Amino acid sequence: MAVETPLKGVIGDSIKRKEDERFLKGRGNYVDDISLPGMLHMAILRSPFAHARIRSIKTEAAQALPGVVAVVTGELLAQHKLAWMPTLSGDTQAVLATDKVRFQGQEVACVIATEPYVARDALPLIEVDYELLPAVVDPWKALEQGAPLIRDEKEGQTSNHIYHWEAGDKAATEEAFGKADRVVSLTSFYPRCHPSPLETCGIVADVNPATGIATLYMTSQAPHAHRTLFAIVAGLPEEKIRIISPDIGGGFGNKVPIYPGYVVATAASLLIGKPVKWVEDRSDNLISTGFARDYHMRGEMALTKEGKMLALRVKLLSDNGAFFADAQPTKFKAGLFHIVTGSYDLPAAYVEADGAYTNKAPGGVAYRCSFRVTEASYLIERLVENAAVELQMDPADLRLKNFIQPEQFPYKSATGFEYDSGDYPRALKLALEKAGYQELRKEQAEKRKKGELMGIGIASFTEVVGAGPGKKYDIAGLRMFDSAELRVHPTGKAILKLGVKSQGQGHETTFAQIVASELGIPASDVQVQEGDTDNTPYGLGTYASRSTPVGGAATAMVSRKLRDKAKKIAAHLLEASDADIEFDQGRFFVRGAPSKSKTIQEIAFAAYANLPDGMEAGLEGVTYYDPPEMTYPFGTYLVVVDIDRGTGQVKVRRMVAVDDCGVRINPMIVEGQIHGGLTEGFGIAFMELITFDEEGNCIGSNFGDYLLPTSWETPKFEIFQTVTPSPHHPIGAKGVGESATVGSPAAFVNAVMDAVAHLGITNIDMPVTSDKVWAALKEKGAAE
Ligand code: CDP
Repeated sequence: MAVETPLKGVIGDSIKRKEDERFLKGRGNYVDDISLPGMLHMAILRSPFAHARIRSIKTEAAQALPGVVAVVTGELLAQHKLAWMPTLSGDTQAVLATDKVRFQGQEVACVIATEPYVARDALPLIEVDYELLPAVVDPWKALEQGAPLIRDEKEGQTSNHIYHWEAGDKAATEEAFGKADRVVSLTSFYPRCHPSPLETCGIVADVNPATGIATLYMTSQAPHAHRTLFAIVAGLPEEKIRIISPDIGGGFGNKVPIYPGYVVATAASLLIGKPVKWVEDRSDNLISTGFARDYHMRGEMALTKEGKMLALRVKLLSDNGAFFADAQPTKFKAGLFHIVTGSYDLPAAYVEADGAYTNKAPGGVAYRCSFRVTEASYLIERLVENAAVELQMDPADLRLKNFIQPEQFPYKSATGFEYDSGDYPRALKLALEKAGYQELRKEQAEKRKKGELMGIGIASFTEVVGAGPGKKYDIAGLRMFDSAELRVHPTGKAILKLGVKSQGQGHETTFAQIVASELGIPASDVQVQEGDTDNTPYGLGTYASRSTPVGGAATAMVSRKLRDKAKKIAAHLLEASDADIEFDQGRFFVRGAPSKSKTIQEIAFAAYANLPDGMEAGLEGVTYYDPPEMTYPFGTYLVVVDIDRGTGQVKVRRMVAVDDCGVRINPMIVEGQIHGGLTEGFGIAFMELITFDEEGNCIGSNFGDYLLPTSWETPKFEIFQTVTPSPHHPIGAKGVGESATVGSPAAFVNAVMDAVAHLGITNIDMPVTSDKVWAALKEKGAAE
């Protein structure tokens, strides 16, 4: 039935973000805004060396500084069995170093003081006697015989090798390679980068000495999972831990791990009996918290001479730093490198991954991707580019020839993953059309005749998001489902409580839109609450684009539960049978008699005032949603670059982006997510790099050295969409938050390589800086 005034703010409406009003007015509430009576401040002394034995730590001078309340060392923590903690990957990590320091920036001691600046001033007064040890920062060297042993405290650990994992079918892959006309290869390094959220990590730990209740205000992307891990690590009873993640200024995977600072601040509050605040500065964040990537990759693709892909062989070496702390499911260990076959119908594949310890900070977080998907997408898309050059085929044609076709879904990949849905040819063709591909190729040919370098790069990526299903995916043993609790008040307004936690993605708006569509309560009347473990249902948190596919699905499902009850109440109020009640845009009416109707607001009041006999009062429910499979957003990006032969400078002329994340709940928010992801992809492709000298000194510990793109450098993005709904999601939505970061670096680099491939240049590793491009041109005698 059509209603006179269609409901505003439903799925598909680009309504403004509800949360922005408080942010724009300076009324956000971040961890550093929290101030409690009697609160103390903590600062962390970090190791200046990458590898050194600690002979002694003297704290007397620091203790004596007026205002210093306590100096905490690893030795003190060891007395409480807290000197080491488990990581999300089943390894251990030092909370405060006792025996050795293993990376520059490692936590050595903490000062608790009445003022933050006093805590800082006391740090240089702590005397640490270090005995320097040789450091190793290259994972290949770390695996050599005789390399310095980093984890000598681990029983049975005799080398720096951490793991060897495999996926796919080795024999079938070898056989396919044996029959191939052509084998194309790429050896590439995806450099270490940092999620660099605007807000660094921090905590205000408040352990009440009278009740023993620990209230922890924390920059956490996964407050519920962190509560459980805190209970396990610190031995605190879980019912006495309340984690509150207030507003969070960006996470991007950086706020998934548990950091030593959280643990020490909590232990200090417990021991001292006062609240303790710790907030990192920028360098702390860059040198010590979860980095991303740092992956050495070699890929080989077997093809027929006509360009049909036969098989893929991949070997990886992951540089995990001093502690193996990747956030990843315990099954499917290779960190989801399993979608390495990309968007292609590859009959065979075999992947091997090894991990190595080095004297660098731990991390390997899901930085705007599902675990290691960005690396996978980069490798396959760069390989396809090289294959096109080798076979002298147009890279768009090569892709179209090998795509998984729409009718092949659900599609089982050669490494065992089930892709739910996709229409890869449609996305690629739309990108070609919007870019004017044929004209661009003509222009390129003409420019080439004049010796000018112009490149057109394509990346047709596939992302995998929305973990669970719980039977296959877990974090530290916890199944990856998610939850939504919806309470409708008597006046028809509602509160929606979620297990996920926004860090800026706009959940307060989009999740309210789902309720609006499903139940008819305007989005403006739905308050969305997240991030308080006492007041939200259990969930695994927000990372790897899982909120919408899992938490969003839970929201739709719980709304439907309430709608079913609302129908029964409507039947009672309208004196009709339950089966005859229909719902449309917030109105419940009798089939065939649309004038006999009740609004959701009238029904909500009746749920507390006028119920059918035998029905429980209230209109509320909770759903824990465990998806049957992951969902697979995808897209095609096309980049046009011009390269200056005199300087090697790359100018991005155009970036055309076609994304498919299924049904878009709020198109404006989705576009914002895509803009953010493309900007990050651009930064990684051309600017961002954290590197280390031979001694393990981190180069990239500040924003002077670690370059993030601003609006000044970032090109204009031309954004388009296709819509292929997810069959697993009740409203057909797939996650989108990370896709653009996953897909875009390859498109940018492919464009550069397309400009120079005819000169015999087959690879330039990221970041593709002017000096690297110029050096490659010079080597081929093509620099001016
Ligand atoms: O898990 P995370 O929130 O980082 O990622 P997401 O689920 O991909 O969602 C990012 C933002 O885009 C959220 O506000 C979503 O609700 C919104 N979104 C949307 O409006 N429509 C989609 N199909 C996917 C996401």
